[in-house]
Amino acid sequence: MNHNKTKKITDLVLKAGKTALAETNTKREPEPTKSINWPVDCVVGPGLEGAIACESKIGYVNGAKGWLLYGGYNIFDLCAYSSFEEVCYLLLYGKLPTTIQLALLKNKLIKYRNNHQTLRALMNFSVQEMNPMAALRLGTNLMRNTTTDVNLEGYVPENVEVISADEDSIPMETQPLGQEHAIYEFPGESDSKKVKGQVHPTTGIDCCLHLISGIAVLSAAILRLRNGYMPLEPDPELSHAANFIYMATGRRPSPEEERIMDITLILHADHGMNASTFAAMVVASTLSDMYYSVGSGIAALNGPLHGGANEQVLKMLKEIDSVENVKPWFAKARANKQKIMGFGHRVYKAYDPRARVLAPLAKYLSKGNRKKSSLFAVAQELESQVIATLGVEKRIFPNVDFYSGIVYSCLGIPPDMFTTLFAVSRVAGWTARIQEYLRNNRIFRPRARYIGPFDMHYVPIARRSAKKK
Ligand code: ACO
Repeated sequence: MNHNKTKKITDLVLKAGKTALAETNTKREPEPTKSINWPVDCVVGPGLEGAIACESKIGYVNGAKGWLLYGGYNIFDLCAYSSFEEVCYLLLYGKLPTTIQLALLKNKLIKYRNNHQTLRALMNFSVQEMNPMAALRLGTNLMRNTTTDVNLEGYVPENVEVISADEDSIPMETQPLGQEHAIYEFPGESDSKKVKGQVHPTTGIDCCLHLISGIAVLSAAILRLRNGYMPLEPDPELSHAANFIYMATGRRPSPEEERIMDITLILHADHGMNASTFAAMVVASTLSDMYYSVGSGIAALNGPLHGGANEQVLKMLKEIDSVENVKPWFAKARANKQKIMGFGHRVYKAYDPRARVLAPLAKYLSKGNRKKSSLFAVAQELESQVIATLGVEKRIFPNVDFYSGIVYSCLGIPPDMFTTLFAVSRVAGWTARIQEYLRNNRIFRPRARYIGPFDMHYVPIARRSAKKK
């Protein structure tokens, strides 16, 4: 990719990568090449910890060394040289694209950014009162409707005429005409259903791309609707990252902001068999479809143990307030056995490579902003104290969420939208892994060890007692 305008950012990423390499063992890992003979003989813990559910070429995480690879490519190289669109291609097709292949993918993303029908349906709900993740999940269901409400085999959502309008020029109902709901008219909508006879409506690469574009559009629209604004039309000239910032904030980002958003999208695109990816794959394995599967991913990501720690990190840094307060705050937190948000990881027992990239980017963006740079200074001080204690004792280091909140807030994204932004990126991994799994699909069906009784006698309801035995 041509990153000439943002060379400073590339240098920061490469420097982070160099530090990571110097601190970790550079020996090649034998694990990825080991073949698996099913059934696998392994120790499985609660929550399927340690279980191997499938084979994949999409991504590799080595928690002991702090390595993250997509399709064999180091995350630092991808952040330094690639783009989110290119990474989507890599995850979905297993190789980096040629110029033409990338242009075709970008064209499809542009096409699928036009989701007028879905947005119009979404605006029939009071989005401003909904949890953003609930609104996003609803939105993906509505996207599904736009691909299935034409009862014809081979229907694909077709690009509609792009209207160059901002929120002020999208016509709203001005006179009561007796409609049950407010009507928001988008020109070109009537042509939007065309039969192409190309792909199955709710599976296949086109659905992956429809969802990758659609989740970004929906998230930006949700942000605006929550703030009392109408959604913004995407700009076909902008990249995925720049479009997201533009559609969410109404402001065209600087090249540096665009690049940093692009890097955050790359960093969050895939991460092994995490809970939301697994949830999405389980649903897909029943031969349900891509939209329902991604909806399950969104639902799983909404849980506080998965997405959302970065929102808590920001709260914590604000609560600590100053560098001087870090020491007493941390001492009290340790005494209370409190978990420090943004530290520790189920897989990484080394510095999370994603945090390595995000830390200098947070510093870069917060420079010149008094409040943000003070938050960054608090974060750095907390990091050094945690590493000096918990890092040594328990291998606890910053995770991806520790610096991402500062980065997102510098880019103008409010904390209550951080988890939706995670989905904007992770949808690439969800859809890629579903596609890969479906090539050799077997419905997921683990077992539970039954620990209940066997010899119960049925008691008629009138003779049952509320007393516990
Ligand atoms: N602060 C202080 N101590 C911690 C932290 C932390 N953030 N994380 C783990 N520990 C301690 C635990 O108290 C435990 O100590 P013990 O052995 O004395 O009981 C030990 O480290 C192991 O902790 P577990 O909870 O068993 O570690 P696990 O790997 O299961 O949990 C998790 C990982 C959930 C991420 C945990 O580290 C945590 O809650 N971190 C804070 C929340 C957070 O930042 N979440 C975002 C994770 S990244 C992501 O999901 C995108």
